[in-house]
Amino acid sequence: MKYTTLLRIDSSLRIEGSYSRCLGDFFIQQWEERNPISTVRSRDLLDNEIGHLDQKTLEGFLGKPHRSSLLELSDKLIDELYHIDVLLITVPMYNFGIPSRLKSYFDLVVRHEKTYSTKNSTPGLLNNKKAYIICSMGGQNTGEKNLVEMQLRRILSYIGITDVHCFTMDGTADQKRVQAKVMTKKNEIIQQLNQ
Ligand SMILES: Cc1cc2nc3c(=O)[nH]c(=O)nc-3n(C[C@H](O)[C@H](O)[C@H](O)COP(=O)(O)O)c2cc1C
Repeated sequence: MKYTTLLRIDSSLRIEGSYSRCLGDFFIQQWEERNPISTVRSRDLLDNEIGHLDQKTLEGFLGKPHRSSLLELSDKLIDELYHIDVLLITVPMYNFGIPSRLKSYFDLVVRHEKTYSTKNSTPGLLNNKKAYIICSMGGQNTGEKNLVEMQLRRILSYIGITDVHCFTMDGTADQKRVQAKVMTKKNEIIQQLNQ
């Protein structure tokens, strides 16, 4: 049995009634049943630990000898990513994209010569990791991939995480059908984890 470490990142502004968090809880329960010797870490972006990238921090990224709490946080978040095998991101669609807190998170972890390099043919430095996305959205997903999935796949692949599976829970605004859809998504999670 392989020892794995999973990092769960939640980004819905809702604690109660959040479909992405609810499916995230289900995913973790199923994950732990299948990976009994795994470690699960959690990072809830509602904690407000992660601020917007600012000039001083950006200059620190580029090698200027600045110290800032955001720079230290960036180092910590990147170190955390290097020490995991699996990433689970639960994410709602807000105004056709990812929540600003999640964007701020990635603004701190997408970093030159730390998580991507311009010296290699492919930039990403975080190899051999698997990511799962649980995306919730009020409307119906009409396209093949929704904008949240597209953006996250692009960012993740830039830092080297190319093995990505996305569960899209669309239509959460449709109260009549939403519970049936939750069941369908739970079954999808089971099927995916059984593979
Ligand atoms: C500020 C805000 C913006 C939203 N924008 C969109 C949107 O662009 N497209 C969409 O389908 N749903 C949108 N929604 C609905 C959410 O995606 C939906 O409620 C989803 O279930 C939220 O995730 P959660 O259940 O995990 O909290 C928005 C909701 C909020 C609060």
